[in-house]
Amino acid sequence: MNGPVPRQGVLSIDAYVPGKSTAPAGVKVWKLSSNETPLGPSPKAKAAYIEAGNKLELYPEGSSTALRTAIAARYGLDPARMICGAGSDELLSLLAYAYLGPGHEAVYSEHGFLVYKIATMAAGGTPVTAPETDHTADVDALLAKVTARTKLVFLANPNNPTGTYLPFDEVKRLHAGLRPDILLVLDAAYAEYVRANDYESGLELVATSANVVMCRTFSKIYGLANLRLGWMVGPPAVIDALNRIRGPFNVSGPAMAAGIAAIQDEAHVMAAVAHNDKWLAWLTQELTALGLTVTPSVGNFLMVGFSTEPGKTAREADAFLTGRGLVLRRIDAYGLPNALRLTVGPEEANRLVVTVLKEFLNV
Ligand SMILES: Cc1ncc(COP(=O)(O)O)c(C=O)c1O
Repeated sequence: MNGPVPRQGVLSIDAYVPGKSTAPAGVKVWKLSSNETPLGPSPKAKAAYIEAGNKLELYPEGSSTALRTAIAARYGLDPARMICGAGSDELLSLLAYAYLGPGHEAVYSEHGFLVYKIATMAAGGTPVTAPETDHTADVDALLAKVTARTKLVFLANPNNPTGTYLPFDEVKRLHAGLRPDILLVLDAAYAEYVRANDYESGLELVATSANVVMCRTFSKIYGLANLRLGWMVGPPAVIDALNRIRGPFNVSGPAMAAGIAAIQDEAHVMAAVAHNDKWLAWLTQELTALGLTVTPSVGNFLMVGFSTEPGKTAREADAFLTGRGLVLRRIDAYGLPNALRLTVGPEEANRLVVTVLKEFLNV
């Protein structure tokens, strides 16, 4: 007799492969593959997490009320229009489960964040990608892919792995081109890092429309990736739908406690922004000077393009870097086999990346 078989489509999904974190024995490892912060979390968040560890036998409060209240206070939001999740990944999946099914389409850009494809297929929907221009989401191309079957449009802004972003005017133009029954999901996982004047994370669009949500995460600038914590703000009807299908205790107490302390430690966030500003610019300049193609980024990572000439490829560069303890991210799964993604690290790692790539390229 045959064993249990998953629903149609599940086995067509390519499982997400996280950034690797190992290098040969004996060398110091610098993990620059997952866009984690070199500053770590706020010490206040760590203390709150440890304190919460005294009550591990108790179930957490089920709707993240205290955390939603703290985030709402920081951004001037209504906590009733928010939901928290085990990472923004969970929220993206919940959106897909709530709004997609067989025959429905989700549109996103060619090199958009991989979870959109996984979540869409897991929900039984069909992923539809739109071409990008200069590795940047293209509003006209996205709108051209919208059909009567479209239910969701995902936009990572800034996008991972490209690091590029759409200015607010363009996001508004995208929204204006969507039917009111299509939900626009603005995934602003790297919003806190962005310094461009024409950028808006989504707060304003969410406040003024009934079919836009914005997802944020504590994994990136807040340095709490290991705790799995994200949040979303959106119209009451969308929040209501997600609350009906989420796990009853989807966020742990220690994660909530750490998140509350993290969101209140503005100085720590500012320090992370200052570090990123300095080293993102420095890495862009130095890697470009080596002859590499660096896509301008507003996040805490860079997409670095390599030559296809044997001996100089991204694959070979990755092996060379890994041998020296520098673990970057291969992005073949994004259809970008000639590039690597590099997270802005601590000063020592950033300098070492440039030194080692100089050696690799022999320049
Ligand atoms: C664009 C984007 N969205 C969402 C996430 C998910 O973050 P998390 O589930 O850790 O909150 C990531 C993490 O890599 C990301 O790059």
